[in-house]
Amino acid sequence: MGLGMDDRFNTIAGWALFGGIVALGLSSLSGHYFLADKHERPETMGYAIEGVEAEGGDAAAAVEPIANRLAKGDVAKGEAIFAKCKACHTVDQGAANGIGPNLWATVGGAIAQGKGGFAFSDVLKAKGGNWDFTALDSWLANPKAFADGTKMSFAGLTNPMDRADVILYLNSKGSNLPLPAPEAVPAEGAAPAAGAAVAVAVGDAAKGEKVFAKCKACHTIEQGQPNGIGPNLYGIAGEGVAGDRGGFAFSDALKAHGGNWDQATLDSWLTSPAKFAAGTKMTFAGITDAQQRADVIAYLNSKGGKLTLGAPAAAAPAEPAKK
Ligand code: HEC
Ligand code: HEC
Repeated sequence: MGLGMDDRFNTIAGWALFGGIVALGLSSLSGHYFLADKHERPETMGYAIEGVEAEGGDAAAAVEPIANRLAKGDVAKGEAIFAKCKACHTVDQGAANGIGPNLWATVGGAIAQGKGGFAFSDVLKAKGGNWDFTALDSWLANPKAFADGTKMSFAGLTNPMDRADVILYLNSKGSNLPLPAPEAVPAEGAAPAAGAAVAVAVGDAAKGEKVFAKCKACHTIEQGQPNGIGPNLYGIAGEGVAGDRGGFAFSDALKAHGGNWDQATLDSWLTSPAKFAAGTKMTFAGITDAQQRADVIAYLNSKGGKLTLGAPAAAAPAEPAKK
């Protein structure tokens, strides 16, 4: 009738030993491949474009503000996404903590507090503040980036709509906070209507020069400098969109846009190039901070630009930048 207990143990031990030897062999082999790889591709490895991934890692994809994503989110989808969390979390009222804390009434509640005595990590406890929608969005995008050293060993949800959906689902479990009003994002390419309450902050060219560090991997700015991955930008403020920049090969998407680079057009382009001209070659996520956009536009304008910058409409104050 098959193997006795000892035989079976020996067989298992034998296989485990064999497996160990195979693993050793493989790891030294892969060590060699790794080395070879390194020697063959030094230039490619070192090629990094500054700024491209700076805005939260979703390289080319512009991320809509959380308020806007929540407005079109879907609780039912969020419940489905919550399947990824269930290995560690319960969510119904009174359910027990697991590897992670019970998440009933978490939205709006204090970060890493209460939860029936759950032993939170010191790093999450040290965060302070509440789980508002923005905090949850950044936590769920990348828990380790939010709280380095967190016990939540979960890579994060890279899809921004998945995060909005699951946050809506959490909110439906004991919180029911009112959703924030969606932010006004100018329609594709459209300048804000005259007198519209879209605040364009007054920019500071000196600060804008610092922001321009994000652009330098692809753009030169002084007169007569060559084009790079992107066109030279001297005199761009007030010029035609995708006009003649020393023969730079613009994408059809940007060429088709037409119009001039006035203040509002630059602002909407720099908010989200991909939304402004779907299919653009400028693989840059955009600048979410309105003040930073205003600053870099002021800097661009200081380099041979022709615009009269300012706050449009009646005395619109330099509003604190929306997040
Ligand atoms: C592998 C287990 C695991 C998975 C999967 C996981 N979590 Fe967690 N979660 C934890 C742990 C552990 C903590 C406590 C973290 C700490 O103390 O640093 C935590 C903490 C949290 C908190 C903070 C709670 C509070 O009261 O401050 C929220 C919110 C949260 N998780 C949501 C989620 C969501 C939503 C998902 C799925 C998209 C998820 N988690 C997936 C283990 C997990
Ligand atoms: C990864 C490279 C890259 C980065 C980073 C980048 N750009 Fe660009 N930019 C491009 C490319 C490529 C184009 C041409 C787009 C097209 O043809 O669709 C472009 C086009 C432009 C244009 C339109 C020029 C014209 O003549 O119509 C402006 C304005 C601009 N970029 C400004 C900026 C600013 C300001 C930043 C930094 C905040 C920036 N870009 C960051 C690559 C980049």
